[in-house]
Parts: sequence; C-alpha cells; structure tokens
Amino acid sequence: MGIALTKEQTNRVEELLSKMTLTEKIGQMNQESVSIVGGFDVPFEQLIEMMTDGRLSKEEFENIMKTAKTDYHEDAIREGKVGSLMVQDPEKCNELQKIAVEETRLGIPLIFGLDVIHGFRSVYPIAIAEAGSFDTELMEKTAAMAAKESRCSGVAWHFAPMLDVARDARWGRVSEGPGEDPYLGSCFARAKVRGLQNDHSENENYVAACLKHFVGYGAAEAGKDYNTVSMANHILYNNYLVPFRAAVEEGAQTAMASFNDLNGVPSTVNKWALRDILKDNMGLPGFVVSDANAIKECVVHGIAEDEKDAGEKSANAGLDMDMGTEIYIQNLEKSVEEGKVSMDAIDDACRRVLSVKMWLGLFDHPYVSEEVMKRYEEIPEEHKELALASAEKSAVLLKNEGGILPLKKDTKISLVGSLADNRSEVVGAWAISWKEKDCVSILDGMKQEFSNVNYYPCGGPEGDLNENEIKDACNNGDVIVAVLGETVAMSGEASSRADITLPGKQRELLQKLIASGKPVVLVLMNGRPLALQWEAENVTAILEGWHLGIQMGNAIAHILSGKKNPEGRLSSSFPAVTGQCPIYYNHPNTGRPAGNFKFTSRYLDAPFTALYPFGYGLSYTSFEYSDLAVTEDNDALKISVKVKNTGDREGTETVQFYMQDVAASIVRPVKELKCFEKATLASGEEKTVEVKLLKKHMGFWNNQGKYCLEDGLFRIYAGADSATELCEEIRVGFESVEKEPDYPVE
Ligand code: GLC
Repeated sequence: MGIALTKEQTNRVEELLSKMTLTEKIGQMNQESVSIVGGFDVPFEQLIEMMTDGRLSKEEFENIMKTAKTDYHEDAIREGKVGSLMVQDPEKCNELQKIAVEETRLGIPLIFGLDVIHGFRSVYPIAIAEAGSFDTELMEKTAAMAAKESRCSGVAWHFAPMLDVARDARWGRVSEGPGEDPYLGSCFARAKVRGLQNDHSENENYVAACLKHFVGYGAAEAGKDYNTVSMANHILYNNYLVPFRAAVEEGAQTAMASFNDLNGVPSTVNKWALRDILKDNMGLPGFVVSDANAIKECVVHGIAEDEKDAGEKSANAGLDMDMGTEIYIQNLEKSVEEGKVSMDAIDDACRRVLSVKMWLGLFDHPYVSEEVMKRYEEIPEEHKELALASAEKSAVLLKNEGGILPLKKDTKISLVGSLADNRSEVVGAWAISWKEKDCVSILDGMKQEFSNVNYYPCGGPEGDLNENEIKDACNNGDVIVAVLGETVAMSGEASSRADITLPGKQRELLQKLIASGKPVVLVLMNGRPLALQWEAENVTAILEGWHLGIQMGNAIAHILSGKKNPEGRLSSSFPAVTGQCPIYYNHPNTGRPAGNFKFTSRYLDAPFTALYPFGYGLSYTSFEYSDLAVTEDNDALKISVKVKNTGDREGTETVQFYMQDVAASIVRPVKELKCFEKATLASGEEKTVEVKLLKKHMGFWNNQGKYCLEDGLFRIYAGADSATELCEEIRVGFESVEKEPDYPVE
C-alpha cells in the first residue's frame, strides 16, 4: 500500500476539504496545459509543422519563440481553478506557486508534473535498454537521481515509470517501457517507485511517481499507437497488470489512464479498470490523471456524446484529474447540480489530489529556494558516473564473429554513420530537460578511447548515401564501425513503424561497406527491437546500443575497447522479420507448436523463433551451466545451478530462472521468468547460484479473476536466456499456500 499520511496530515486534508467550495474542489481536478498563444503571425501548431517538415529551421523557430507569448492561466490559478501545470523552470514554478499560495482563498499549492521518463538533466538509458541491465539497484539509483534533479527545478511529480508490457516492436512506445516480460517489468516498477519516492531525507529528494498507462496500452492492435485493445481477462491479469500491482505495492502515489479502449471501454472512462481494479483491488492511495486531451477524445472514441458527457463518465469512473481539456472545470459543477456526478466522487478525487500534495510536503515547502534551484546547474560527477554505469550495463552484445571485439586501442577504425556524430541523438524519446553540452556522441567517445579513428558520415536513417565517403571509409580503415539505426523521432509516442528493418538506405550502406572485405562492426542506435535477419547473417559483430543517454559515446567506446565487458541482456525479443510481430517468449504452446512438420503453428517464409530471444546477450567471456537442482522447501522451491566462467576474462552473467506450469485449468506459457540473479565471475571461477521461488508466485489468474494455485507438474529452467533447455521437473502441491488477491471481473 502507498506511503500513508500521518494522522496530522490526514486531518489537515480533511479540514481543508471541508472548507472548499465546489469550484475549488473541481479546480484541484484540473491540470491546465501551458499554451503558446501567439506573438507571431501563424498558429503555434503550424510552426511545429513547418519545423518538422523543414520549412523552418530550429534556429528560426527558437528566434520566433523568443517573441512568443505563453498562457500560464494565471487568472484561473488566482480563482482556485487550477490544481496542476506542466512547467519545469524553477523561477516560473515559484511565480505561479506564489499566485496559488498567496493570492487564492485557501492557498492550496500547485503540483508541477513532467515527463521525466529516463532522467531530467542527467539522461540515462531509455527504459527498454535499462530494464535489460537486470540491475534493479541501478534502476533505483537512476530514478533517485532524476527525482533530485527535477525537484530542484520545481517538478514534484513524474509521469513515470511507464510500465506498459509490450510484445509488438512496431509500436514506437516499446522504447519507454521495460519490455515484454511481466516479472522483469514488475522488478523495474518496484525499483523506479523506490527511487522516485522513498528518500524523504530532504524535501528536494523525492517526487510522486505516476504509473502509466493504465492499462493495456502496449497491446495496441497491430502495434499502431492509440489503437484499440482487445484481450481476454487472463491475459490482462497475468501480463499487463502485473507491473502495476507491484508498483502500487511499492507505494506508488498516482497513475495515468491510457488512451486506448480496453475491450470497448476507453481507460479514461473505465470504472472496472480505474476504480474496481486500480483503486479498490490494488489500493492506489493517490489520484489518477487522464492522458493528454484524453477526456475530450472520449467523444471521438464514441463513448460520450459531447464533452460534458465525457467529463461525467470520466469522473464517475474514478478519473481524478483532467489533463489539458478544461472539461472538468467547465462542466462538472453543472453535472453535480444535475445529480449526474455525485459529491462523493468529487470529494474522493479532490481528497486524493490534496493527499498527494500533502505527502510531497508542498503545503509546507511550496517554493524552490535560490540555493536549491542552482544545485544541479551543472551535472555533478556522481550523476555523470551513474549515467555512464547505466549506459555500459544496458548495451547488449548480439554478435561477435571470430571474437573481433574488443578492438585494440590502436586499431585503424573507420567510424561510419551520421548518427555517430550527433549528440542530440543519444538521449532517446522523452528526454526534455537535457542540454547538448552534456551529451557524449559516439564519435566523441571513440576519439577519446582509440588513437586512430577516422570519421566518415556516409549516410544514416534518412537521406542519401555519400559514395566518396563510403569509398574512403572502406579504403582507410582496418575495421569499419558503422553506427546505424533509427533517429530519436522514429520511436516513442506516435512513432509506430510497419517495417522495423533498418530505415532508409542503411542496409545498402552496409552492403557497400561489407563489399570492402573489411570486418564491419554494427553499432545500433534505436528505440525498439529491429528485424535484423540480414544484418545478423552478414556483419561481423553487432552491439545493440539503444539510446543510452548523455554518456552513450563513452559507454559504447568502453565496450568496443574491452574496458567494459558487456553485460546487458534483451528485455524484448528481436524478430528476424517484421512479419513475426508480435513475438514474445512467454507464449502458450498451442496444440501444434512450430516445427518442421508443415501442419504446425509457423510461417512458410520466416523462422519459427525470434532472431534474438528475450534475455539474450553475449559477453567477451563465456559461461557454462550445470547441476540444476530443484527441491521443495516449505512454502517455496529452492533452485540452484552451477555457473562457470569458461572464458579468459572476468564477466557478469545474468542467471535466469524460468518456470512452466505443464498442465493447468487454462493453458499457460511455455516459460515464465520467475527469478534472476547477476553473477560476476573471474576467468575459471565457478559459483552455485541459488534462488527461492515462493509457491504463491507459481499461480495465475483465470478469466474469472480467481488466483489459481493448482497441484501438478512443473518444469524449472535455468540459463543465459529464455531459449535455455536446462530443465528439471518437479511435482508441487499448494496445500495451505497463501494466494495472491483475486481480481474483479468486468
Ligand atoms: C502524452 C503521453 C503521456 C504523457 C502525457 C503528458 O500524450 O501519452 O505518456 O505523460 O502526454 O505529456
């Protein structure tokens, strides 16, 4: 359950609530969107369009913005009609907060929220990458770093962590979440909530988390963003809800409803999801905010006749705060007077918002002091080091033919690809408070780490190839390091791709480089799994670099030079071809699992399995597994396996333990990740890794919401990734084993 308020804090909230007018209560349910209202002769949206399609340069845009007028809704704040805003500048936060605290009737402070998804100033790897570090201590530290940096800027509420399980890499937002596995997602969720919320040693050290997007958004049909979502209850319960339940258990204060409809009912107005499951069943202590403009879009969904109807349906479903439409503040008073929304619903929503503000200490410390706001004007060394550590641990070595990597420091390298020399491309989607001067490009990092690097742009995700540069790159280097992939704009929100191979002419570029006969090392910068069958067959080595944040350049260079032995693993399966999407390891077996026999669940024109499976990743050393043993130990299984470093250098292995419920009342996945443990072993060192799997975690929810623990045969796997075949069988009984809570059925 969430971190509770003290008795005194609870009393302050109740006393305040008793004094508030209906308008003031609805004001707390209103997050105004800061809008650009002009100062130039075209609408702001058109400016953005002109910049996106190149009719306006970034410099011209920035000059125009200098004259722009921004509406911060000061008057509405003064009238007590605003509860929250998205503002990240500390002076502006203080200025607006002063109006709320000193010029309104009750002085209720504003809460400033922002999309701090993977770092504020010190941007660290995108979530799909960092989840692949399988290092929950690190995940917690980076979140704590982001909390400190943003709180010192006045931002006390992060629209993070994003916890959408996602199995279809065509969806651009796979970049923002912890991948395809519910258990890894729940470990990520717990770590992020702890990091964001738990350091109360100073008011400026913690923020409120906002779990998003509740729920099922990652299952958008065909990987098309905002698309409809349909799924059986057991899929929802055993996959998409799992990270959210973990995060609420860890104390998360708020959540954000997702854009999508879930089985026909948009989450924004989905009482079963928001009230019955998230608030009543899981116990979210704080409030639920809509996604941007989402209440208005319920009219477009076709679930509400008009905006007032959409507002009523949202408020009654348990949606406590309206992000950016003003529908609540413009309509709910009338809805209450008409009896269409109860006063209880308004009081519950307002109480939740006030409670989070009280829990954040905003009533007693509403402003950011001069000293505090200057605290992170420059990024401290420890933050840079943490960003570097996270980057180094999140990169994944996918191929290393002939052990060409690591490269000697005096290797004559032709560094190729326009992404390599672009500092603003290392930060990834949703990096909004970073500064280019803090970013280390791959070219920067390579020049620092190697003594003989020549750079040839040659081409990139967009545009043509430069034949002369390609010729020079091929002639002048002993090894070609090609930095290719996606631009930041090709992943993240509203960035679904129907073909997830390397975009543009990058494969053609690779063909030309490979034709030189020189070894080609492909370093990927991308925000989603890519379909890499051709690359895997043709290049010498592949390092998945994702978008690793401000220290990306150093992390990649350290791995290529061997200063850092790669230890990242895949949090999402990589398909061979796009047509395999959605593809994920924890799938049911079907009655005809893919095999060489024609009449099985397979494609005629594509492989049966992922190119690189969930949990996969190489090291510069090698590991061997043996002696898997599974025994019952009261309310748990004790599982142990021997791991030996059979290579010639120290390395860190992520030892993964999977389970299969062989026969149950509904079909269960062929494997489910249940535990993992990282082990750092010296060359030749062998270690027995032992974990405990609680019997209560071996069950599943059925379509009726019942948590089932069914006696029977289980297979326990251990290994380096989800394709492991090292397995032991065991019969397990669940007599008197405590169960997980049941779920309500819609
Ligand atoms: C966006 C995103 C959501 C984000 C919100 C505020 O549309 O869906 O993740 O937090 O709007 O920027």
